[in-house]
Amino acid sequence: MTPTSQQQLQRFIRLLTTAAANAALYHLEHLQVARLCRRALDELNGLFNNHSDVTLKIIDNQLIFDNQPVTHNLAIQRLVAALQLHGISHLQIEPGIYSEELLGLINTLSKRPEKYIDLAASEHIHFGQIEVRYRQGDNSYRSTELLLADIECQEADRFMDVYQAVQKKQQLDLSGIAGMVSNFVNAFSDHSDSFLAIAPLRSMDEYTYTHSTNICLLNLAQARQLGIEGQMLSEIGIAAMLHDVGKMFISPEILGKTEALNEEEWQIMQQHPRLGAEYLLGTPGVPRLAVVTAFEHHMRYDGKGYPQPDRPWQMNLCSHMTAISDTYDAMRTHRSYEEPLELDQIINTMLDLAGNKLHPQLTYSFLQVLNGLEAGT
Ligand SMILES: [Fe+2]
Ligand SMILES: [Fe+2]
Repeated sequence: MTPTSQQQLQRFIRLLTTAAANAALYHLEHLQVARLCRRALDELNGLFNNHSDVTLKIIDNQLIFDNQPVTHNLAIQRLVAALQLHGISHLQIEPGIYSEELLGLINTLSKRPEKYIDLAASEHIHFGQIEVRYRQGDNSYRSTELLLADIECQEADRFMDVYQAVQKKQQLDLSGIAGMVSNFVNAFSDHSDSFLAIAPLRSMDEYTYTHSTNICLLNLAQARQLGIEGQMLSEIGIAAMLHDVGKMFISPEILGKTEALNEEEWQIMQQHPRLGAEYLLGTPGVPRLAVVTAFEHHMRYDGKGYPQPDRPWQMNLCSHMTAISDTYDAMRTHRSYEEPLELDQIINTMLDLAGNKLHPQLTYSFLQVLNGLEAGT
């Protein structure tokens, strides 16, 4: 594989995974997805100049192209994880591929396997499938822990370790969190055209990992929009990763409940900001900002929300940003029991909340980040 082919392939995979992340976040017909698909197709056609087809294989979690391992980066990791999730062990794309076919592949990669109905090959795309390990007879998922273990996403592993240590009341490994955040910050610089390039695919919507990394990425995007860099940027990312750490002290029955919580359960749930802040306060090396954010992230701009302090309170900037990211993530998250909201609906709701639940200027700034995403590339 020539250095040019290597670069073309890297660009193709980055565009493909970004398109899949955008399709999951918005919908397949979104303008951004169409643009990314077109660009991905251009890169593919470039590759066909020197290759009779593009065949990608996964061997031991390593992506192989042209009999050589492809240098790992976050986009490659995302593709490998997504292909594995669908049980695809190799993927062959032939010259002449239509954009509709590539869009079909993007659609597959953007979805959870349970929602995928037909993994049939198209005229120019062929799959090699291994046993799909994530399905049971009734098509329901195995436990979150098993699924996460199978995905073998380096960051997910590291993050789960950190959170499990919290559950077992062991020492919090702050360096693990800080390392992840610095990876995200670096990836932001590498993929400034779209921060969604590194947003985890929605197929992994396990709460602890995906929610926290989403809030981290959204907070980092907001902070960068405000011109925040360096140590402050990292601390905002770390605070986001840890904002819900208090939920580790709430029983899984309450956390996992899909119907509305009763009054007693709701009172327990509302303890998670205080429990998280207390835990982080007692952990050496945790930035003060993370303690404050854990405590304040369910407080509201208009003074409502929880916990309710018994004196006038000024919320920290990072807590406001986290509340905005949290509100957005809750609306965009694809829950099986409810339809995800369209982007227009999300924007309108956030505009309604600006000035009461959410900090108005920061909300407008956040919506600009979203606009930038649409205008990007
Ligand atoms: Fe929370
Ligand atoms: Fe949260």
